[in-house]
Amino acid sequence: MASSSWLVLCVAVLYASALAHGQCHESQRSLLLLLKHDFNTTHWGNKIKSWGPTQDCCGWAGVTCTNGYVTGLDLSGEGIEAVLNDSSPLFELRYLTTLNLKNNLFGATTIPPSFAKLGNLVHLNLSAAGFVGQIPIEISTLTRLETLDITAPYFFGLKVDNPNLSTLVGNMPNLVKLRLSYVDLSTQSSDWCQVLSSSAPHLQLLDLSNTGLSGPIHPSLGKLKSLSTIDLSSNSFSEPFPSFLSNFRNLTYLNLADSVSGKFSGSVLQLPALRYLDLSGNYGLGPGDFPSTIRNSSLETLILRSAPFSKNIPDSIGQLRMLSKLDISECHLVGEIPKSLSQLTRLVSVDMSSNSLTGLIPTFSQARSLRELDLRYNQLQGSLLSTDWKQLSHLEVLQLSSNSLSGSIPTALFGIPTLQQALLSENHFTGFTKDSITPSSQLHVLYINENELRGEFPSFIFGLRGLRELDLSNNNFGATLHLNSLQRLKDLTSLYLSHSNLVVEMGPGTPSFPLLKSLRLASCGLKSIPIFLKNHSAIEDVDLSENQITGQVPSWIWDIGTLTSLDLSHNHLESVETTNAVIWFDYVDLSFNRLHGYLPAFAKTSMGLRVSNNQFNSTISSVVGHSNAGFAVLNISRSNLYGSIPESICNMSISFSLDLSDNFLTGDIPECLLNIRHLNLKGNNLSGILPDTLPSPCSLETVDISGNSLHGSIPKSLGNCGELEVLDLSYNKLENAIPYELGLVSTQRIKAINVSHNELTGPIPTSFGNLTLLESLDLADNKLSGSIPEQLASLTFLSYFNVSNNQLVGRIPKGSQFRKFTQASFEGNKGLCGYPLKKKC
Ligand SMILES: *[C@@H]1O[C@H](CO)[C@@H](O)[C@H](O)[C@H]1NC(C)=O
Ligand SMILES: *[C@@H]1O[C@H](CO)[C@@H](O)[C@H](O)[C@H]1NC(C)=O
Ligand SMILES: *[C@@H]1O[C@H](CO)[C@@H](O)[C@H](O)[C@H]1NC(C)=O
Ligand SMILES: *[C@@H]1O[C@H](CO)[C@@H](O)[C@H](O)[C@H]1NC(C)=O
Ligand SMILES: *[C@@H]1O[C@H](CO)[C@@H](O)[C@H](O)[C@H]1NC(C)=O
Ligand SMILES: *[C@@H]1O[C@H](CO)[C@@H](O)[C@H](O)[C@H]1NC(C)=O
Ligand SMILES: *[C@@H]1O[C@H](CO)[C@@H](O)[C@H](O)[C@H]1NC(C)=O
Ligand SMILES: *[C@@H]1O[C@H](CO)[C@@H](O)[C@H](O)[C@H]1NC(C)=O
Ligand SMILES: *[C@@H]1O[C@H](CO)[C@@H](O)[C@H](O)[C@H]1NC(C)=O
Ligand SMILES: *[C@@H]1O[C@H](CO)[C@@H](O)[C@H](O)[C@H]1NC(C)=O
Ligand SMILES: *[C@@H]1O[C@H](CO)[C@@H](O)[C@H](O)[C@H]1NC(C)=O
Ligand SMILES: *[C@@H]1O[C@H](CO)[C@@H](O)[C@H](O)[C@H]1NC(C)=O
Repeated sequence: MASSSWLVLCVAVLYASALAHGQCHESQRSLLLLLKHDFNTTHWGNKIKSWGPTQDCCGWAGVTCTNGYVTGLDLSGEGIEAVLNDSSPLFELRYLTTLNLKNNLFGATTIPPSFAKLGNLVHLNLSAAGFVGQIPIEISTLTRLETLDITAPYFFGLKVDNPNLSTLVGNMPNLVKLRLSYVDLSTQSSDWCQVLSSSAPHLQLLDLSNTGLSGPIHPSLGKLKSLSTIDLSSNSFSEPFPSFLSNFRNLTYLNLADSVSGKFSGSVLQLPALRYLDLSGNYGLGPGDFPSTIRNSSLETLILRSAPFSKNIPDSIGQLRMLSKLDISECHLVGEIPKSLSQLTRLVSVDMSSNSLTGLIPTFSQARSLRELDLRYNQLQGSLLSTDWKQLSHLEVLQLSSNSLSGSIPTALFGIPTLQQALLSENHFTGFTKDSITPSSQLHVLYINENELRGEFPSFIFGLRGLRELDLSNNNFGATLHLNSLQRLKDLTSLYLSHSNLVVEMGPGTPSFPLLKSLRLASCGLKSIPIFLKNHSAIEDVDLSENQITGQVPSWIWDIGTLTSLDLSHNHLESVETTNAVIWFDYVDLSFNRLHGYLPAFAKTSMGLRVSNNQFNSTISSVVGHSNAGFAVLNISRSNLYGSIPESICNMSISFSLDLSDNFLTGDIPECLLNIRHLNLKGNNLSGILPDTLPSPCSLETVDISGNSLHGSIPKSLGNCGELEVLDLSYNKLENAIPYELGLVSTQRIKAINVSHNELTGPIPTSFGNLTLLESLDLADNKLSGSIPEQLASLTFLSYFNVSNNQLVGRIPKGSQFRKFTQASFEGNKGLCGYPLKKKC
């Protein structure tokens, strides 16, 4: 008994191996070996590599046989780089019914016409195979095809032009799956729908995404009742919205993103089989009819981002019981979020951000699988307490910023072990509930800035050990925080506590936060610069403004190699410790302190230095003279500077703005300063004349040199300053006529001209009538003569006008704008008459 069963087994094994051995026809085997030889260039796959040692080619990787003939060949993902030409042994494998060459690199050649020799093919997959150019007519002879996939990974040069689509698929009556994504079909007329519906009646899968199709989608497509997958995304179809799609009872997947317009038709939501619908990015969609009852929906994914499908969120959305992903962001939605949404128990990801939704947030307590909830940028109100957050044990991302939410933030949220990001900024939250929790160790981003938090600093934060970014700025705690209570937050990269009515205390135990990049502690009652910054090796940006820091700016601060931006403004600093270092920071703000003495040398790359409102009591040269800097911005206003502006300032190549206003500077204005975009020298005692050498084009945008002792003429070359917006030369001793050229500044951006309180003579230039955007013109207290030009009456934006105390004569123009000016604008001119003056003409 035992031996006979052993015999049976033995025979069976022998028989099986003999059969396998004999299966492969020798001709097929040698063709495959030739193929292997041809493809023996670079390829990263393992299938072809393994061919050979065993006799039976039917057992080789990727090879399928029927009766010893190769009928299936799957060389997908082999990364073959050879050139596939018409003499390839591949085209001798005449029994092939399935050929998959997906993901190869057939050297940017066209598809070889020899594919026509493979007349038995039923499934042909050439997606991302590396072919380019026109798809050859020979493909159209493969009349048995059920699957044709020539998808490119991106626009790669594949196209269907001549032969056209009609010729290509016209003889493939069995076609079930057609994918031509990223093949250029832009020359095909809009009758591609008729072509497909008449030639491929059994089509189930159609992917013509990214093919450059345009025109409306013709209703004849509706004849293809078997379609279950349609991807026509990223084309530019015109109206109307293809509502006939609701005929496809078997449709499970529909992607029309970035492709359709017209009035949205919700009937497609009634399709019982539909599981995936993407209409995102269709900005031209008009709100349409969303069905009020939806029965037996299978919809799992609904993506309508940036597709204004409706004015409100329809209540019936709650009937999409299978929904797991919902994206209706940027849809101009108004009104409330319907309560019915709470019935969607399978939700995983919800995005309703950037709408104008109002009212309360419905409870999400039933959506136990919820991972992401994004309601940012709406006008939602009320508290967060309607949801039992403890239940949402999969929540990863909660984004509620920029709403009007209020009340206490449920502390339970921060005990959800999976939570990674909580963005609650820009609301009206006042505090936290008192639940006791085990703080999540996954949470790495917590933003509750711009709220109304008050009371004790929330202690659960001390336990959020994974925290990297913490922003609690702009709140109203009224409490004290010892920075060493944050010692467990070793991964912090940004810590923002500015303006939150917190007194931040630092002691000997203050941790160094080794990964910290950005520290913002403005208005935190600091008495000194945190010593942990010394020798810090990651910090990039520090804001310690509006504190009570006294004494010296320590020289070690310039030695922090990673630091690029430092704000110590609004403190009580008195000097900057001398250093030999050259400062490479991009941005330094030391304004509003009590600094005197010298500043360190800044390197050519420094972008901005703001040191206004200090008490240097010295000359510009001694404050910044030894800098070899190239500031974009230099501001030393109101700092008790005296002496002249040194020519060496020209070496700082200040490009964007220079503010030396309200000092005691005397002497001439160096010519180079008239190349700066924003120049403010007001309130000094600068004398001399303004050089008439402004280049064309000139870069001045705003110029204020009022309140000095300038004399001479207003430069004619200001007419070159096409970007000029504001010109204030008032309260000087300028003489002669206002140049006609000032009215010719080329792009006419100018909004305000003030040359009042000078000694100007001559007429008001008629060219001022050209300054069509002028809002304010002050010529008061000069010695101007002549009449007010009629041309000024056409300045429709002019809202301030003053020519008082001059020597003007004649009738005041009657323009509509002039009717708004009062007597004060004109008084002190003996010769003026007409409204609003009492004197008649
Ligand atoms: C493939 O090429 C390698 C070297 O590039 C060579 O060693 C090997 O013999 C070749 N195989 C065939 C089947 O030609
Ligand atoms: C086709 O390619 C093979 C190998 O890649 C090459 O040896 C042959 O010369 C090519 N034939 C033609 C007609 O280009
Ligand atoms: C082509 O082959 C790839 C990889 O095997 C597959 O993902 C894709 O669905 C195939 N195309 C069709 C239309 O079946
Ligand atoms: C496609 O091309 C064929 C042959 O050139 C032509 O007869 C036919 O009208 C074209 N079809 C369409 C829809 O352009
Ligand atoms: C829809 O699918 C069902 C089940 O797969 C099938 O029996 C039916 O023929 C399909 N309908 C059409 C129009 O293809
Ligand atoms: C909904 O599904 C139920 C059960 O599968 C079925 O009895 C009912 O007819 C369906 N209703 C509709 C409108 O399809
Ligand atoms: C800090 O920097 C100083 C001077 O640059 C150096 O002497 C000291 O060793 C550094 N300390 C640490 C802990 O790196
Ligand atoms: C600078 O001068 C002002 C008066 O001009 C004086 O009040 C102030 O004490 C001086 N500051 C220093 C630091 O010398
Ligand atoms: C210079 O600083 C003062 C004080 O901070 C500020 O008011 C002024 O606008 C600044 N000037 C420029 C050009 O930014
Ligand atoms: C500007 O810099 C150049 C070269 O560094 C120097 O020769 C020249 O004297 C400087 N000019 C002024 C006005 O400091
Ligand atoms: C301005 O400078 C002139 C000399 O250029 C001097 O006479 C005058 O007193 C100064 N005015 C003020 C307010 O310092
Ligand atoms: C500017 O105004 C003068 C006087 O009104 C007029 O002759 C001239 O054509 C205007 N120039 C432009 C560029 O508008």
